[in-house]
Amino acid sequence: MDKPHIPPLIRHASLRQLQVFEAIARHLSFTRAAEELHLAQPTVSAQIKNLTDAIGLPLFEQVGKKIYLTDAGKKLYRTCREVFSALENFEMEAAEIKGLRQGQLRLAVVTTAKYFAPRLLSAFLERYPGIDVALKVTNRERLLERMADNVDDLYIMGHPPEDAQLAFKHFLQNPLVVIAPAGHHLADATQVPLQALADEPFIMREVGSGTRLAVEQQFLKFGVKPHVRMELGSNEAIKQVVAAGLGIAVISQHALLTDTALGEVVVLDVEGFPIYWDWYIGHLAAKQLSVVARAFLSFVEEAAPQMFKPELMRRRDSAEKSLTT
Ligand code: PGA
Repeated sequence: MDKPHIPPLIRHASLRQLQVFEAIARHLSFTRAAEELHLAQPTVSAQIKNLTDAIGLPLFEQVGKKIYLTDAGKKLYRTCREVFSALENFEMEAAEIKGLRQGQLRLAVVTTAKYFAPRLLSAFLERYPGIDVALKVTNRERLLERMADNVDDLYIMGHPPEDAQLAFKHFLQNPLVVIAPAGHHLADATQVPLQALADEPFIMREVGSGTRLAVEQQFLKFGVKPHVRMELGSNEAIKQVVAAGLGIAVISQHALLTDTALGEVVVLDVEGFPIYWDWYIGHLAAKQLSVVARAFLSFVEEAAPQMFKPELMRRRDSAEKSLTT
């Protein structure tokens, strides 16, 4: 087998010599290069002598007290910059690979996102099995507090506040629908005016919930005041309470994709609904994201629409069908 051709420079010069040369060429001073590299000046001179011998051409010339790069020196300087910047890139890539093998992701999501966030995480962890995840589930208001305190890497929530200090990206729809107990007198009605709900007992999410904020904004927009009978801090509890006939509620369609209460609650066809209160993922704009956080961010943008949209669309179709049959 032919031996690979190794240029003489690589055989006889070392990376260390090139580093010393690069520092001298940059400062045009042996003294400053020695200081920068924490080397004694004779060591620096010896390294350059060996390098000059290996190349077989002078790299510097001295005129008075000043040193100048020779033509060969200028060409080697350019080559060194290219080699070092390629090595720096490689180091960064290697750090990314290491980080993705064993990093940590701190994710905080609003209560309603718990219906899809675990599936996103599980698909992400399939791709990067060495990553540890700390998942916090809380309501919108607490999530915003955590973000202000810079507690987590990334946040998933519905419509983030418009604030230049936040960097959020939309990635999925979150249709909010009106639900009522099966057999409700409006169950088969179509295009029910929102005003018709004013007298219905309403089960509301707690103050601080994003769902509640969306509902209040929508009712305000239509000039209707809901008659709130009960406040609850959990979507699951809301479904059970509605199924038990205690009132109607607005809930994310994601919360209806689980089996609980399915068949016991129906989606009403109401003016102004669904509200498309979309999902966003993001962080404080000034935050330096870790390699893992960056990887999760792009994973969510790429994977979430395919993973969940068909499900939501199907659900909407069947909800519409059940309303028209
Ligand atoms: P919530 O948030 O679970 O606090 O209602 C939902 C959202 O932010 O869209």
